Amino acid sequence: MTKLTYPFTPMPLRYRFNELEPYLSEEVVSTHYEKHYKSYINKLNETLNTFPRYHHWTLYDLILNIYQLPLEIQNQVWVNAGGVYNHELYFATMTPYNQQIKDNLLHKALNNYFGSMEGFEELFKRLTTEFVGSGYVTLVASPFGELRLMTTINQNTPLPYRLFPLLTIDLWEHSYYLQYQNNRKEYVNAWFNLINWEEVSKRYQYLFFRNVNCLKQ
Ligand SMILES: [Fe+2]
Repeated sequence: MTKLTYPFTPMPLRYRFNELEPYLSEEVVSTHYEKHYKSYINKLNETLNTFPRYHHWTLYDLILNIYQLPLEIQNQVWVNAGGVYNHELYFATMTPYNQQIKDNLLHKALNNYFGSMEGFEELFKRLTTEFVGSGYVTLVASPFGELRLMTTINQNTPLPYRLFPLLTIDLWEHSYYLQYQNNRKEYVNAWFNLINWEEVSKRYQYLFFRNVNCLKQ
């Protein structure tokens, strides 16, 4: 896990660069992680370097309180903190171990909000096809546990909307171009084989039980 505050450090992957093959090649994963993801971390640290006042702020603090930062660093922090957050979610919710979603809280919620798992997959894929430019399609949960799909451009995140991201796909060309060129559809189909449902379920349960406990207080 990334160090929670400045200086931020890269989140170690739970798989080797070549373990997501054949769906994502070693070259794609290593380039994405080593060059793109780490670049967001480095730039975020560089930006905050001379602003010690914010060195105890977490990624959440930086993203959610962006307008409290000096104007001169707002844009750089926004882009790079978002870049770190989005990439960590993307890498954490992939696994080489082909997983089927288990019959649990998340499974029931997916069926409830999307009609069925097929309904979820169909809508998710449709959004990735219709998406123009660079960004993400993300499965999010409201504070009440309601599930939604949302698209975000560039390195924006669902966090300012008070939505908790559970699963995301990176639709920037750097995440697939080396292997799939401009065939985003093929990349998305392959990526569906890599979803780490266990991790997604854990995130949903965390949100669900945390809120249940909050309501009890
Ligand atoms: Fe990326």
